[in-house]
Amino acid sequence: MSSNSARSSRRLADYRQPDFLIPEMDLTFELAAEATRVTALMQLRQQTEGVPLVLDGQQLNLQSIAINGAELNPEDYQLTDDQLIIAKVPATFTLQITTEINPAANTALEGLYLANNVFCTQCEAEGFRRIMFYPDRPDVLTVYTTHIIADQSQHPYLLSNGNQIATEKLADGRTRVSWHDPFAKPCYLFALVAGNFDCISDSFRTQSGRDVSLQLFVDPGQRDKGHFAMAALKRAMRWDETRYKLEYDLDVYMVVAVDFFNMGAMENKGLNVFNSKYVLADDSSATDKDYFNIESIIGHEYFHNWTGNRVTCRDWFQLSLKEGLTVFRDQEFSADMASATLNRIDAVKLIRTAQFAEDAGPMAHPIRPEQVLEMNNFYTVTVYDKGAEVIRMLQTLLGKPGFQRGLACYLQRHDGQAVTCDDFVSAMEDANDTDLSQFRLWYSQAGTPAVTLRQHYDAEHTTLQLEVSQQHVATAGQPEKQALLIPLQLQLLSSDGRVDQQHLITLSKPTEQFTFTDVQSDPVVVWENFSAPVKLQQDYQLSQLLLIAEKASNGFARWDAMQVFWSNLIREHTLQPEAPLELPDALINVMRHWLQQPLPDKALTAELLTLPDFDTLAEQYLHIPVDAILSGLTKIKQQLVARLEQDLVNCYQLTGTTPYQYSEEAVGRRALRNRCLSYLALKPDSTEQLEQHYHQSDNMTDTLAAMAAAQDAGLPLIDTFAADFANKWQDNVLVMDKYFSLLASNPESEVFTSLTKLSTHPLFSWKNPNRVRALFGAFSMRNPKQFHRADGRGYRCLAEVVAKMDTINPQVAARLITPLLAWQRFNDQRRDHMLAELKLLATKANLSNDLYEKITKSLL
Ligand code: TRP
Ligand code: ZN
Repeated sequence: MSSNSARSSRRLADYRQPDFLIPEMDLTFELAAEATRVTALMQLRQQTEGVPLVLDGQQLNLQSIAINGAELNPEDYQLTDDQLIIAKVPATFTLQITTEINPAANTALEGLYLANNVFCTQCEAEGFRRIMFYPDRPDVLTVYTTHIIADQSQHPYLLSNGNQIATEKLADGRTRVSWHDPFAKPCYLFALVAGNFDCISDSFRTQSGRDVSLQLFVDPGQRDKGHFAMAALKRAMRWDETRYKLEYDLDVYMVVAVDFFNMGAMENKGLNVFNSKYVLADDSSATDKDYFNIESIIGHEYFHNWTGNRVTCRDWFQLSLKEGLTVFRDQEFSADMASATLNRIDAVKLIRTAQFAEDAGPMAHPIRPEQVLEMNNFYTVTVYDKGAEVIRMLQTLLGKPGFQRGLACYLQRHDGQAVTCDDFVSAMEDANDTDLSQFRLWYSQAGTPAVTLRQHYDAEHTTLQLEVSQQHVATAGQPEKQALLIPLQLQLLSSDGRVDQQHLITLSKPTEQFTFTDVQSDPVVVWENFSAPVKLQQDYQLSQLLLIAEKASNGFARWDAMQVFWSNLIREHTLQPEAPLELPDALINVMRHWLQQPLPDKALTAELLTLPDFDTLAEQYLHIPVDAILSGLTKIKQQLVARLEQDLVNCYQLTGTTPYQYSEEAVGRRALRNRCLSYLALKPDSTEQLEQHYHQSDNMTDTLAAMAAAQDAGLPLIDTFAADFANKWQDNVLVMDKYFSLLASNPESEVFTSLTKLSTHPLFSWKNPNRVRALFGAFSMRNPKQFHRADGRGYRCLAEVVAKMDTINPQVAARLITPLLAWQRFNDQRRDHMLAELKLLATKANLSNDLYEKITKSLL
């Protein structure tokens, strides 16, 4: 972005229909590292009379333009930094444009780029304009025929969307492969990949009996690491048929794994492109979490075929239409594949850390933003994950069958169209004959509501009255708030922990009363499953929290009760950091019981024994007491080890190992065992046990657990482990990313030496987002102690990385800067240091739009 070009944001309110439609396009790519030629032949139809044709285009070398076969002269059009404008055009015409681009120089990884000798595209959100001149907006739907010309000895696989229709050897020795995608699509779903791969082939028979060919492309030599992803794809395809009656629609489904990628994966029609991190896995190199993520992201991209591709977004403000809905779908898929409780816990952790933080900071926006400067900045936890919570609330309110009917109505009504969030809600309304006008506010209102719940029990009449109120605070740029429609799923527990009654109550006013009859004793009111993305405030006694944690039938509620307990304890500690922090006997007894007799769901047991992390706790304060939170956590852990040592040892032994297997049972067992280990590492003589754990491990989960435990306990043993690990895994970049991340989360100040050293490691590259995130993303997000040093050294380190990355890959730079934006939430010293770094960055010449938007909002 040149410093003098205008930075203008776009507004949802300014949406206008496209002036031109392009029903069909024929595209030819002549691939060459530094000068790829792109020739497009399109059919255009004017929609608005007398308007000029305005096409988007950035960093393109225009070679020629012709209308209806007649070449244009330079005076017939106008070329700006990011547009091509042709003042006079006929009502219908063919337009032929040839451009030249430089994929080898493309380090932003948007548009067409060449990395690791693979040509690869990434067009969402607005990357297509870096490939050719085109109305780069999601409501222009086109049927593509794509020809790829390349030297096939260099790039054996030449792939694009749809079905392959021809292959031809050209006179000059090059090959031309042609593809046709019969489904009209917006250009953000276009994809091209050319490279040398190992291909895993399989097939899937759909419920209607069609055979779909499945192909998964991985780097040569990595074939064995692709089988899990392929199996996950078949599970996802079957699940969407079973749950939603949705079937795949093309004859071929391709997935390509590449190591240079800005995000997780991309749902291009028939040709998904994946970050290799979310495809490649085998039992020795992948963690349990890796396997989980692969299945979930494979599912996510597959589910987009209906929710995103067949029905797409009218404009980018509607992003949550496809992302919130598809995250919801992938969450439901994952919940059906393994522990629904654990999935819910993980989703809620993310909302309570990153999403609540976003809503409380300068980038706060509704799930349907109203104003955007750089669209890449709005692929957020708000749009994705709060968006999924909004969809989940619809399911809660309408019931599963009602939601199902609504989704079917939406897909049938809008198949082949580019639509809005309002269209989605309307389909839900129509299919259920209900009015969701107040619910729609969730789409336009930013911020996290606080809900307060007070109970009054009347023993004489055996009635319970709940007084529930919702409070809203102003968010960045949105001072006024209205009452929302908030579904609360509640259980009334009797004093022995039995579920006495279950109720779904729906708040619609600032304050409301709900009365329940036939309640035999003053119950403990339990919130089930986080039925709305709100902060629920209830006054619980310790005994009530322990009753829920021990006895509630809802696993999520049990975990949540423990979270509340720890949060309360830490809060007391922050008020009186010098006072002794004593854990109540009742709590120790409950925890001892779990260690002695783990629940059938061992993963849940592990979660029940896990303290909230720094970010979860930090989010509960307006001004974050960094030191008190950290010292509180340390003190609690020390006491837990001191008082539960023998039980931790026993539980560790009880959960002994068997050869690695990725199964729900084994994942839970490892989680519990490694949780015990992380506590036991804190006792004085833990070296031997850690060594044994490390050396006996046959899998990455256990190995990393030993390393993390040693590092967090401050043991020199970590150096021995690290050296051994690096030696063993030096040829596997994805595993070495874990090594980078681990060392970057070292809570001691040596971490700065490691960061410097690792950033010149032969495997490190500033051009590869996975490497940069592994090292510096881990440092800024998983090392609160060193990142939030009072002397500002952590902030300095991140700001330097952000400045450097902005010249290479603005999208990655803008994601990395996030933790610095929240300066208002810290005390004087830290706040001053953060501000100084932001102000310094703001003065940088040629700041990208990505960084500019975030920094200016934060400094406002
Ligand atoms: N649509 C993609 C998904 O949800 C994510 C995505 C958006 C993306 N922009 C991107 C992926 C840029 C890679 C690069 O899965
Ligand atoms: Zn998505």
